[in-house]
Amino acid sequence: MTGLFITLEGPEGAGKSTNREYLAQRLHEQGLEVVLSREPGGTPLAERIRELLLTPSEEAMAADTELLLVFAARAQHLAAVIRPALARGAVVLCDRFTDATYAYQGGGRGLDAARIAELECFVQGALRPDLTLVFDLPVEVGLSRAAARGRLDRFEQEGRGFFEAVRQTYLRRAAAVPQRYRVVDAAQPLAQVQQALDALLPQIVERARG
Ligand SMILES: Nc1ncnc2c1ncn2[C@@H]1O[C@H](COP(=O)(O)OP(=O)(O)OP(=O)(O)O)[C@@H](O)[C@H]1O
Ligand SMILES: [Mg+2]
Repeated sequence: MTGLFITLEGPEGAGKSTNREYLAQRLHEQGLEVVLSREPGGTPLAERIRELLLTPSEEAMAADTELLLVFAARAQHLAAVIRPALARGAVVLCDRFTDATYAYQGGGRGLDAARIAELECFVQGALRPDLTLVFDLPVEVGLSRAAARGRLDRFEQEGRGFFEAVRQTYLRRAAAVPQRYRVVDAAQPLAQVQQALDALLPQIVERARG
């Protein structure tokens, strides 16, 4: 059994968490084992690293430190959650994964994508998501949805240019490998976003059943 590894990507407020729950229910109804997780985090230790990454602090975090913390959390998450779930044949629905590293630490912070790719190979070996849903929406719409939730985390405090770079990196990556990515227009009303996901369900279920 090899399971199915699906990641949900997109900026703050794009609807990743909302739609992860929706997809999980639909897949569960089909009798599939679904494992929900998120990054950075997904295990108690990795969630502690998440706190370091998201909590604003007096000391500026070097971009390389941020990158290595993201991958340190990912190594733990892969070992403790993702690889075991895939080995038993589960569908893993993960809210953010390495595409977010390319988008935020690469696009946003300006780190070289080739260095991210080296760490990706080091930490993941050959493992890549089978399918990545990119929830795309204009920067200001996402930021206003996130702001409506209250206190801003360390990333949400970044400026508009940062989030434009994040968005463009996601779109570029999706366009480069269309077989692996589906771009969902996340600015639509939720009901329409979920219709778009419904249209993807048959192929997801078929692949999950192998
Ligand atoms: N298509 C939509 N139209 C309007 N509001 C939406 C839509 N999708 C999600 N929302 C709302 O926007 C807010 C953010 O959604 P959600 O938490 O799912 O986003 P997220 O991508 O997980 O964000 P974050 O990256 O910050 O965790 C929630 O209040 C949610 O109900
Ligand atoms: Mg979320």
